[in-house]
Amino acid sequence: MSEAFTIAIDGPAAAGKGTISKAVAEHFGMAHLDTGLLYRAVGAKVLKGEDAASAARALVPSDLEDDTLRGQDVAQAASEVAEIGEVRAALLEFQRSFARKAGGAVLDGRDIGTVICPGAEVKLFVTASAEVRARRRYDELVQRGQPADLAVVTADVKARDARDMDRAEAPLKPADDAVVIDTSDQTIAEAVAAAIAAVTAKKG
Ligand code: CDP
Repeated sequence: MSEAFTIAIDGPAAAGKGTISKAVAEHFGMAHLDTGLLYRAVGAKVLKGEDAASAARALVPSDLEDDTLRGQDVAQAASEVAEIGEVRAALLEFQRSFARKAGGAVLDGRDIGTVICPGAEVKLFVTASAEVRARRRYDELVQRGQPADLAVVTADVKARDARDMDRAEAPLKPADDAVVIDTSDQTIAEAVAAAIAAVTAKKG
């Protein structure tokens, strides 16, 4: 397939978007962009004392290749800079042009189906209960050898949910035409299969 085809995958923290997006991109041979990394990279620069909007405007691809971006402190900083309109505006064009790559693209984030790519050919909203998501994020941090405390991770997930859903700029919510996939009681394989089936239904 050489024409552009955009798959938008949105949802709250640790719902499984990343795993599902990678698997969907691989299955259909498309490019994948984890847009959370853009906000995390800006958040990491703010933690080092930079101005958020300037950092967003100056972002380069190598800024995304940094293992420390996955930490909890960077996640919080990311959701704080994500409230700033100038930051979101600075990151918009890069995401839109990635979405129209020849051969198709999968973008995962919070506002892909609602703001970045409202015309995306397929929109998925991947969610799960806050408790399930916190447990998954905790297991992921432990596996990566990072210090983690389940109560702290749960509080972090809930705080980011509230901030992401209540903000004025591009709040987290399913697009009207999104297919909602609740992964609370699904294995990774089941969730991936549901996502691939939803894309196949639209792609024909
Ligand atoms: O991996 P996880 O779901 O925990 O977070 P992420 O996708 O890396 O996103 C980190 C933070 O960036 C989120 O809490 C959002 O505040 C923000 N974000 C956003 O506002 N818009 C996006 N398209 C992606 C992330």
